[in-house]
Amino acid sequence: MTPSPNPTFVPGPTYAEMLDPAILPAAMRGKAAAAQRDELDPANLFNITWRGPDHAIRHVVLPEELTGVKANIVVMVGHYFPSGSHKVGPAYSTLMEGELAGEIEPGKSTTIGPSTGNFGIGVAYVSRLKGYPAIVIMPEGMSAERYERIRHYGGQLDLTPGSESDVILVLERTLEYRKDPRNKVLAQFELLPNYRFHRYVTGRSAIEAVKPYGNGRVALFAAAPGSAGTLAAGDEIKFAFPECRVAALEPKECSTLFNNGFGSHRIEGIGDKMVTLIHNVLTTDYVVRIHDDDCVLGLELLERRQHGIEPFLGLEAGSLRPLQGLFGVSGICNVLGAIRMARFLQLGPADNVVTIATDGFDRYPSVLADLERRRPLRVSELDKRIEEVFRGGSAAEILDVRPREEKERLFGYKQEVWTNFGYSLPYLEAMKFQAFWDDEFNKVGQIDAQLLKARASLKGKV
Ligand SMILES: Cc1ncc(COP(=O)(O)O)c(C=O)c1O
Repeated sequence: MTPSPNPTFVPGPTYAEMLDPAILPAAMRGKAAAAQRDELDPANLFNITWRGPDHAIRHVVLPEELTGVKANIVVMVGHYFPSGSHKVGPAYSTLMEGELAGEIEPGKSTTIGPSTGNFGIGVAYVSRLKGYPAIVIMPEGMSAERYERIRHYGGQLDLTPGSESDVILVLERTLEYRKDPRNKVLAQFELLPNYRFHRYVTGRSAIEAVKPYGNGRVALFAAAPGSAGTLAAGDEIKFAFPECRVAALEPKECSTLFNNGFGSHRIEGIGDKMVTLIHNVLTTDYVVRIHDDDCVLGLELLERRQHGIEPFLGLEAGSLRPLQGLFGVSGICNVLGAIRMARFLQLGPADNVVTIATDGFDRYPSVLADLERRRPLRVSELDKRIEEVFRGGSAAEILDVRPREEKERLFGYKQEVWTNFGYSLPYLEAMKFQAFWDDEFNKVGQIDAQLLKARASLKGKV
């Protein structure tokens, strides 16, 4: 269904426009550029893209002196998305598709964002721009900066007990909200717009980002799943470069994909103690366990100890400065996973590894303040800490999940979780075939056409 030309329907971009805002009408591009001065201007919806003002995909390539590997580690930077993380993309896509389907209506619906933070921030932000009240359900133990952002965007908070690995309680809470038909759950762990956004927008952006480096291809894509939306980029990268391997990273303290393990941990946004419904486990090749505190320590080294670590690594003074502010704890987890897998696969200078920094440091000063209390660093131990973090990890922490029995184990875990939330066995069975994922992905063209039609009916607004 196409939304009626209701003046309260606030237009946003198609998937194709998020991948390449240059295809937007010139007037809209101008409005979007001007909107960057006021983050609450709804035209910022058209700034949901990996591209910067120079049209290039925002990324950094880490110095070899830091990574200790020859492969090019290319990190796509999510911090510059409106609201401060790329999770705004899945939040917008889920809301946009809900509007097109006639399920979410301006003036009638309240959006519900089950999250551990960044998706909730994205839901609060996009809902504010589109004029919907928003309720974010998230665990009570996340960083203080996250709650502040949600409140800042006018989102209401509903906190559940525990922290990152207690997301199942968040999902259970959504069942309460579903009883009122005005509440519309933007269910990132189970709805396919999250998959579509990352496969289409992130995947294709990654393919473009690596063009200038090495052989211009992607040998490895590494990402730590929360909802596992980001991992969907791997599906598109593999389509372009069939030799590409996809590694899912998780906290050693909550190694669900590795060995059905569970436990609490310090890497906010990932390691949610489940196989999410939208995780296409068929295309995940390896699972890597990363010690959670390695990521917190790594963040501290990059943010607060640059002057100390540059000479130790043989880097010129100031060469790490461009990295400042671009990483959160999960971004460091992704970098460490990328490094450890590059070492494991013996990748060389022709090979590109792509990974993601989902959000930036602005969400983590409180986490480093806590680290300083827990593990204060003596300057004499700096070299030991660099070794531990950037050269650490072993092959024992890497599991090859390509064998059939590993896929069956992961399918089994998924089934265990999601039948409890009403998903049928035939639906779960269909997900065991790549055709399911390709069919879902191929809906992008039709959704975009529908959105363009809805925008055209707004006459003069876009
Ligand atoms: C900081 C952070 N890192 C990583 C992720 C994981 O991304 P995804 O949900 O796409 O798997 C999230 C998800 O919310 C996050 O907030």
